Amino acid sequence: MIRSIVKGVGAYLPEKILTNEDMARLVDTSDEWIVTRTGIRQRHIAADDEMTSDLAIAAAKQALENADVDAKDIDLIVLATATPDQTFPATAATVQSALGIKQGAAFDLQAVCSGFIYATATADNFIKAGQSKNCLVIGAETFSRILDWEDRGTCVLFGDGAGAIVLQAGEGTGDNSDRGVLTSYLRSDGDYRDLLYVDGGPSSTQTVGHLRMEGPEVFKHAVRNIADAITTAVESVGLTIADVDCFVPHQANLRILQATAKRLSIPDEKVITTVASHGNTSAASVPLALYEGVQRGDIHDGSLILLEAMGGGFTWGSALIRW
Ligand code: ACO
Repeated sequence: MIRSIVKGVGAYLPEKILTNEDMARLVDTSDEWIVTRTGIRQRHIAADDEMTSDLAIAAAKQALENADVDAKDIDLIVLATATPDQTFPATAATVQSALGIKQGAAFDLQAVCSGFIYATATADNFIKAGQSKNCLVIGAETFSRILDWEDRGTCVLFGDGAGAIVLQAGEGTGDNSDRGVLTSYLRSDGDYRDLLYVDGGPSSTQTVGHLRMEGPEVFKHAVRNIADAITTAVESVGLTIADVDCFVPHQANLRILQATAKRLSIPDEKVITTVASHGNTSAASVPLALYEGVQRGDIHDGSLILLEAMGGGFTWGSALIRW
């Protein structure tokens, strides 16, 4: 059967860093509050002239180089973002043009913090259907642009960044020893859309709006939904949580990661955490964590890894991949 194999990974973080001390100069907060409640110590913030496409292009170039795949061979770009450069055209089209790609398709996908999982599952299905051979899957965000910088309950939590992978069609036997995406699982429940949202948009207010969140409510659902995402993915291919070598979670909050790990008896050393240095970068957080895991040597050829996320919508999901 056809498998979608990860050939390379790339990442980009803007140069400017805002530490918790910097945040305490902007709103009534403290390093101690932020670290205790979230585990976040700093976040990267895009420069005034840097857009989501710039971050995405930098991450994509690195992923292509790492994969040793030529941009001209890319026949699909799926870019997950909730902070596109413009309402339209898709930021993916800007990335396609910047990379000099003259073939195939490029589109954006909106599932907020779960966006990279949704994008990976989408590209995997294009590959398995025989419609694409080389896909760029990107998560890129400039969340700093939709934050209310006077709301201490939300502005301390998020940051900007981008990550990307190259998925390539390859032959597999169909069992769990194959390299590539073994399974993916996507869920959403729109009944919870008012717990985490942006209070603006082209069709409602004709403004960009600001992020709003019922933090404690989101927290409760996050642990439950992430546990569902992890369990469902591994069980669907007849594996157990203990078979997974490395967990690559969406980096919202260290306490969510710890609570989920405890609930599912996952040892800390199997969980990649980058939230301390990146904050929550929404759709970029999973590929940024993936990049970090590969750099640290925690993810290597043959590793069974599980990507998972939960975000606004609510959306949640997972992807089980053999590296
Ligand atoms: N600094 C200092 N005090 C603050 C801050 C801050 N930055 N923000 C809120 N507070 C205060 C509140 O005003 C409140 O004060 P009060 O008791 O006098 O009213 C107090 O801290 C407690 O507020 P809570 O919101 O109840 O704090 P909580 O312990 O729940 O922590 C947090 C808030 C960190 C947002 C937590 O609810 C959380 O992590 N939720 C998950 C949400 C999340 O991570 N969302 C990301 C997007 S979704 C996703 O990616 C999964």
